[in-house]
Amino acid sequence: MFDVLKALPADPILNLVVECKADDNPNKVDLGAGVYKDESGNTPIMAAVQAAQTQLQQEETTKTYVSPAGLVGFNQGMINLLLGDSHPAIKDQRVMGVQAPGGCGALNIAGHLIKRCNQDKQVPATVWISTPTWANHIPLLSSCGLQLGEYPYYDGETHGINFDAMMEGLQEIKAGDVVLLHGCCHNPSGADLTQEQWRTVAALLNEKGAMPFVDVAYQGLGDGLEQDAWGMRYLAEHCPEMIIASSCSKNFGLYRERVGEVVVIAKNTTAANISHGQLLSIARGIYSMPPNHGAAVVDIILHNPALTQQWHTELTTMRERIASLRVSLVSQLQAAGAGSRFDYIQHEKGMFSFLGINPEQVLALKQQHSIYMVNSSRISVAGLSDRNMGYVVESLMKVV
Ligand code: LMR
Repeated sequence: MFDVLKALPADPILNLVVECKADDNPNKVDLGAGVYKDESGNTPIMAAVQAAQTQLQQEETTKTYVSPAGLVGFNQGMINLLLGDSHPAIKDQRVMGVQAPGGCGALNIAGHLIKRCNQDKQVPATVWISTPTWANHIPLLSSCGLQLGEYPYYDGETHGINFDAMMEGLQEIKAGDVVLLHGCCHNPSGADLTQEQWRTVAALLNEKGAMPFVDVAYQGLGDGLEQDAWGMRYLAEHCPEMIIASSCSKNFGLYRERVGEVVVIAKNTTAANISHGQLLSIARGIYSMPPNHGAAVVDIILHNPALTQQWHTELTTMRERIASLRVSLVSQLQAAGAGSRFDYIQHEKGMFSFLGINPEQVLALKQQHSIYMVNSSRISVAGLSDRNMGYVVESLMKVV
């Protein structure tokens, strides 16, 4: 049976982790996957997570099934984190959430929900994704049977969003279509919409009768938990329907525990409840129910004021460290003679930025200097450190 299968290339992001691990160069630098690292190159378990895990271990009395919806406290805590406690859509009881196995699980079950909504339509919805977008958006959504379209977003020449081109591209969307937006810390570019631009996008979606679908995997790692939620909350207030897929991998550092949340904002309570039931049946048909541990940890953190405070403090440290790495990278590149070529990196948000070098230069950095990054020249800024910065700058200057 298996001889009909064709060999596939390895995943372009995840394989970098494998390649870097296998590299025995002591100077190797992993700027590949979006994983936070501290100064010594470790991805630490946050102290708030450690404390919540200890509490969980002491209090947990059973390992029986949870449910396809996951933990009630987690779902409610995540909705408040994403939308803010007093968001009008919550007051109107039009919001529901389902725990999912990671941000990927959230995107995938949301994709299946969109597919179900379009089953009987003669012209089914297109889901519009930004150019570029996170590479895994494409398989996660197209595997649901959805048709994808692309709208222009980042301009590699100007190192910013080409908002005019984006708005022009979005003129193509039709009523019932879905537009996938990155809530903050755009992956891979680090270029985020301004508040004014979010308002303009919301107005266009409403004019066209299209629905926003927000992927928010880095809340708290751009400008702050509240600031990073601004665009998403604005859309939730001004658009009648919306989906959010969120991840706790990065901001809680719970990568391997696979915990995320899908939120549906419907036109009314009945439609929200029906969507909830549909999501449960989708989850049941794929993985039955989500893993518990990570969500139980987040539930504890979000419902214990001292742990919430501790988590905020740790998240702030992470965010500020990434921002200072950006500043340091730019100033060291300037000092090494790069001029202002890389200055934009300082103003971008979250874990990622493009170096703006070509695939041959990316390959040279890997083969000659053991510096790993995605082929597009996307770097995970969090992989830099005071220790490896000089080496990265020197190597980069050699290849450009
Ligand atoms: C990334 O973009 O590097 C992360 O989201 C990790 C992944 O799963 O691709």
